[in-house]
Amino acid sequence: MPLTRKAYRAAILHSLADPAEVGIEASYEYFEDGLLVIENGRISALGHASDLLPRLPADIDITHYQDALITPGLIDTHIHLPQTGMVGAYGEQLLDWLNTYTFPCESQFADKAHAEEVADVFIKELLRNGTTTALVFGSVHPQSVNAFFEAAEKLDLRMIAGKVMMDRNAPDYLTDTAESSYQQSKALIERWHGKGRLHYAVTPRFAPTSTPEQLALAGQLLGEYPDLYMQTHISENKQEIEWVKALFPERDGYLDVYDHYKLLGERSVFAHGVHLCDEECARLAETGSAVAFCPTSNLFLGSGLFNLPMAEKHKLNVGLGTDVGGGTSFSLLQTLNEAYKVMQLQGARLSPFKSLYLATLGGARALRLEDRIGTLQPGTDADFIVLDYNATPLLSYRLKQANNIAETLFVLMTLGDDRTVLQTYAAGNRVHQR
Ligand code: GUN
Ligand code: ZN
Repeated sequence: MPLTRKAYRAAILHSLADPAEVGIEASYEYFEDGLLVIENGRISALGHASDLLPRLPADIDITHYQDALITPGLIDTHIHLPQTGMVGAYGEQLLDWLNTYTFPCESQFADKAHAEEVADVFIKELLRNGTTTALVFGSVHPQSVNAFFEAAEKLDLRMIAGKVMMDRNAPDYLTDTAESSYQQSKALIERWHGKGRLHYAVTPRFAPTSTPEQLALAGQLLGEYPDLYMQTHISENKQEIEWVKALFPERDGYLDVYDHYKLLGERSVFAHGVHLCDEECARLAETGSAVAFCPTSNLFLGSGLFNLPMAEKHKLNVGLGTDVGGGTSFSLLQTLNEAYKVMQLQGARLSPFKSLYLATLGGARALRLEDRIGTLQPGTDADFIVLDYNATPLLSYRLKQANNIAETLFVLMTLGDDRTVLQTYAAGNRVHQR
């Protein structure tokens, strides 16, 4: 195969570590005039343009951006594909919202053509927003996942998804059985897990919609294949938590249900966790599990305020999630804007570098993919984005007053959205141009 080598020159920023562990200054690397060199879909060099340029062949193709910032592609650790058509449904909290809006919307995925149409819209929307990897809930229908993976494979994206397992407490038209969910998940795993840059996630929706038999089979699947993911929801809403207690009286709370069925582990991601207690955070951290912090959703559905400092205290891995239908945006920049407000309401702060970490390297760590994505270290996948300082008149004017990269970054996260993402690259290929 011929060597394809390209270089991108701009301001470049990426996370090196969690600011909560190493302090802000040691948590990032910034090149005011940087150069990113890509060879065959991977990053081969990163540094100051003045250092790297003399070492490159004279004929190398260099794209030079003015007033732009290159960062790693953003990572969404919790999002529902079949809710693309129902973002912004008015006025309910979680359980009513599921019954009134979500289940009817997800039922449309029984139609394969619909699944394919939405998968296409969904992937375009991710890339328009600079999200290069997502951990994705399909619907209960296997074709929702097939449609998604087929579209992701064509673009050589690194994506993780699974078919929802749901065999009770949902309308008949949207339930599987313990056995059919096991067989359908198994067939999807055999077809997709480890193909190109795709990975499978065993996906019991949440404890209330699975029988003990189904949860046991979900745990069994995790034991049958190496490196499978597990995604579900936990402790999002107070009514939901009481319901779980009533459904599983023999268990010691919500997390213990999942623990009992062997659903915790290094590739397990629990969405929301708004009402987790200290002991539950400690147990999640001990098992290497992660939590997806979904601020737009937690505000929109009135679920509550995620306690990020408590998660940090327990060294619990945290990624960011947009949750789509429950949330209000595909944009992780907008999600960080809301995350900052969630911290403010609890008397805490979210530094711009912690925000960058959550949306990139922290998400990658939550997914155990930090050796591949979430960073611009040489050797990793060339998944990166170009953010445009002049995306809107206000952003342009505001950034002219910014004195340093911390301020620039914070403004990008406060005023930024899909318009800010000029280009998105995956495996070195441009997959979005604004
Ligand atoms: N809990 C169970 N299903 C869902 C869902 O689709 N969205 C959210 N936000 N919470 C859930
Ligand atoms: Zn969700």
